[in-house]
Amino acid sequence: MSSTVPHKTSLPEGLRAGSLLRIRGIVPDKAGRFHVNLLCSEDQGADAALHFNPRLDTSEVVFNSKEQGSWGSEERGAGVPFQRGQPFEVLLIAAEDGFKAVVGDAPYHHFRHRMPMSRVRAVEVGGDVLLDSVRVY
Ligand code: GAL
Repeated sequence: MSSTVPHKTSLPEGLRAGSLLRIRGIVPDKAGRFHVNLLCSEDQGADAALHFNPRLDTSEVVFNSKEQGSWGSEERGAGVPFQRGQPFEVLLIAAEDGFKAVVGDAPYHHFRHRMPMSRVRAVEVGGDVLLDSVRVY
């Protein structure tokens, strides 16, 4: 069953080393882009400790942060481990030094922390995605 996007899950205690987010869904046939944001508050315009942004339209996966309304410098993973019409599983593993993104069975990218992960208060999933589940461990 797919839940509607944008979807937000509160993380009242923030994230710490060892926290794990698991996102499962399906990339729609005509998907352009979708995103997973780790946000520092529930407010509009919240800082993002991580913006994870698979772009099927331009065949890239962009990682970034946002502070005070401004995007930081983009990082890109190697290749695009997502396909239109296919299910996916993303793990975002919080480590001391950064977030490890695992897609399917393979480590995909390591995004070094740009702000304390203890500031994160919500995970938001939006864009062109059929979301099955968001779990926090
Ligand atoms: C912008 C895009 C935003 C966000 C950002 C990440 O070009 O409009 O949605 O993905 O890049 O750096």
